[in-house]
Amino acid sequence: MTNTYAVVLAAGQGTRMKSDLYKVLHPVCGKAMVEHVIDNINRLGANRIVSIVGHGAEKVEETLGEKSEYVLQQEQLGTAHAVQQAEALLGRLEGTTIVVCGDTPLIRSETMRDLVEHHKASAAKATILTAIADNPLGYGRIIRAENGQVLRNVEQKDATPEEQKVNEINTGTYCFDNQALFEALKKVRNDNAQGEYYLPDVIGILQGEGAVVSAYATEDFSETLGINDRVVLAEAEQVMRARLAEQHMRNGVTVINPENTYISANAKIGRDTILQPGTMIEGDTVIGSGCTIGPNSQIVNSVIGDQTTINSSVVLESKIGAHTSVGPFAHIRPETNLGNHVRIGNFVEVKKSTFGEGSKAAHLSYIGDATIGSAVNFGCGTIVVNYDGKKKYVTTVEDEAFIGCNSNLIAPVTIGKGAYVAAGTTVSKDVPVDALAIGRARQENKEGYVTKLKLN
Ligand code: UD1
Ligand code: CA
Repeated sequence: MTNTYAVVLAAGQGTRMKSDLYKVLHPVCGKAMVEHVIDNINRLGANRIVSIVGHGAEKVEETLGEKSEYVLQQEQLGTAHAVQQAEALLGRLEGTTIVVCGDTPLIRSETMRDLVEHHKASAAKATILTAIADNPLGYGRIIRAENGQVLRNVEQKDATPEEQKVNEINTGTYCFDNQALFEALKKVRNDNAQGEYYLPDVIGILQGEGAVVSAYATEDFSETLGINDRVVLAEAEQVMRARLAEQHMRNGVTVINPENTYISANAKIGRDTILQPGTMIEGDTVIGSGCTIGPNSQIVNSVIGDQTTINSSVVLESKIGAHTSVGPFAHIRPETNLGNHVRIGNFVEVKKSTFGEGSKAAHLSYIGDATIGSAVNFGCGTIVVNYDGKKKYVTTVEDEAFIGCNSNLIAPVTIGKGAYVAAGTTVSKDVPVDALAIGRARQENKEGYVTKLKLN
């Protein structure tokens, strides 16, 4: 087995994005585009992966962590110059090197593998991954001889009107004999429209030296989208979205309408879960099996147990148990931990609170910084008063407590096990176990008073 190395080009600023965020860090379905590229290469089983970083180097390294080695390209003088920066790390090694641009996140690892195999089978020194584009504008064009032999690549800005008509494009992914690559890079010149050192010029150089160069054409152009601006970013997002939805459907998730369901690249979803329209599953969310999510729900970096329902609600950085029901119209804010068989109903906001098994807040409540035992019932309109304008305080409600409607629990306060709070009570001191707290003005009925008023 020959060794396989990978070089990922990720040093560019991405001027056409018009963004403060470096291009390769723009997310596609919630994952940085360069991370998609690296993860796909990893699936190939490359011996080493070297990322060329420049603009936003620190941020790129922070995002990719130990998935890659890094080389700094101080000045962005072109894609050939970028690869050349890896010479100290890779130059002397024997093997096959795949080069991928950090802005082509849709190229699947299967396609990379096909490229490598084609490269090896044709005993080529260089193989370029090409595709047929309906609209090749902006891409490098593959120039072939009459017999079909690849001669070179010509960039959009250097292409003659005749060459611009060619619709076979350079996808920006290549496979090289490693040593031939670094030798040829030394011969690349920058006498072109952009004054840059172009990596695809290596193809023409090797070809001119009589080496075998080859092209491997993929059938699926959408896989090769190079994201240079936000219009293509949206196209890529659409392709990736469809691909992810299909993966989940094949694994047993029902997606009622994949076109308006948004599943992040890192999400995990159990079988027989149903995703209703308008649902966004973001970040590293994990959803159990047999759940119904949506319609119109947003779940970010959360863990949801089996058989749970989340309807028209927002769940952020929280953990939700099994057989639990959230919504419609609930807001679960970060650091919340809901147990099993919990019910959070309409217009309930929960923040940084724990709910034990079977506890309920079914209507119109705010519960913040609270620890709630099991089988607790919050009546409609219960408010936890956790903030005095300066500090936040903790409220504890023990198992089986029953809080009447429209109560205020002024933190810090503890409601003892099995205690009752009468409707309309403002609780400002602890309620003992099994006690009834009642704190409201006593009602008085003035008999006949209305009639008297009306006579005046
Ligand atoms: C490049 C190819 C083009 C191909 C297209 C496919 C060249 C000269 N052109 O064009 O033939 O059709 O990709 O998407 O290679 N980068 C660096 N350092 C640099 C310059 C670029 O790291 O000095 C990185 C960028 O961050 C980016 C990648 O290389 O991830 C490609 O650069 P970009 O400027 O987007 O090249 P294209 O014009 O798209
Ligand atoms: Ca590009």
